[in-house]
Amino acid sequence: MIALSRPDVGRREEQLVLEVLRSGMLSLGPMVPRFEELFATYVGTRHAVAVSSGTAGLHLAVRAARLGPGDEVITSPFSFVASANCALYEGAEPVFADIDPHTFNLDPRAIEAAITPRTRAIVPVHIFGLPCAIEAINTIAARHGLAVIEDAAEAVGALRRGRQVGTDGNPAVFAFYPNKQMTTGEGGIVTTDDDALAAHLRSLRNQGRSDTGDWLTHDRLGWNYRLSDVAAAIGVGQVERLGEILATRAAVAARYSTLLEGVAGIGLPAVVDGDERSWFVYVVRVDEDVDRDGVMAFLQARGIGCKPYLPAVHLQELYRARGHREGTFPVCEAVSASTLALPFHTRLAEADQVVVVDALRDAIGASRRR
Ligand SMILES: Cc1ncc(COP(=O)(O)O)c(C=O)c1O
Repeated sequence: MIALSRPDVGRREEQLVLEVLRSGMLSLGPMVPRFEELFATYVGTRHAVAVSSGTAGLHLAVRAARLGPGDEVITSPFSFVASANCALYEGAEPVFADIDPHTFNLDPRAIEAAITPRTRAIVPVHIFGLPCAIEAINTIAARHGLAVIEDAAEAVGALRRGRQVGTDGNPAVFAFYPNKQMTTGEGGIVTTDDDALAAHLRSLRNQGRSDTGDWLTHDRLGWNYRLSDVAAAIGVGQVERLGEILATRAAVAARYSTLLEGVAGIGLPAVVDGDERSWFVYVVRVDEDVDRDGVMAFLQARGIGCKPYLPAVHLQELYRARGHREGTFPVCEAVSASTLALPFHTRLAEADQVVVVDALRDAIGASRRR
């Protein structure tokens, strides 16, 4: 079996976790602020507010933007479901806009076309670690007076025109589930340069506790979205090694791209001049005359992990029940029906990549529609 994904945690993370366990301060101790400071320094923002998951971070960012019933939030249908669900948590309505067929990120023209008098915010996603057209999106948002919350869950360390994702003036949410470039087991973080927003987020994640820090004084409705110090310890080790982890992932991706060069019937991950993808997954797109599900069944029968990445959000049962149907976002639907993720992690051996590529070649040959 060649696994789809696998976290890269080592001795340093073990040592830091042990430090926390021995300290007796398993939550609300010094490891969370240490992790936050390291992460903020890495990205280049004034603040980073650690939370229990990427989804929790998105929810709090939506809450802090005061979005609610009657408000529309534009996001990508080609994403993980949390990018849209974060609006629903606050009673706001996710509104989808179609994606660019090359980058798989939101198409700014489609965003513009989706704006109504009720639109209050945009949640652009940096899908598969490829930065979206954030400057175009910020321009649209400024013209219409909209908030922007970046879903950077898959994009730690990605560069847009030389700038780190998360440094464009919007709150940005990163996620650390074990399939991500770096992990804390479960966890997420919100980056911002805004002092007041950071303080507000810190209160919201900690049961709405007062800004004075008094333990049993609650000023507002909040949640328990805290990250534990045990998880933060893993995060500290991961940020210390992030440069090396991202470089290794890029090398594994480059190896795939070389091995796949001569393989007919597929398209490789997009390259955007001037931008740098942070390699979250390695996703290929099969040609129109190839049955993607047939390819996946073939690979799985050979013990090769793969997944359809990603199913369209608006066609999930939750969103169908809200009235969404096929045919509304044709680019997303076509991409979604033809993409799959191949095994991808830092310790994937070249020999295994050769096995994957050989199997993929055979799978495509066996899955051509006649
Ligand atoms: C694009 C995107 N948004 C949001 C999330 C949610 O993060 P989490 O699983 O940590 O809640 C994820 C990851 O799962 C994601 O890939």
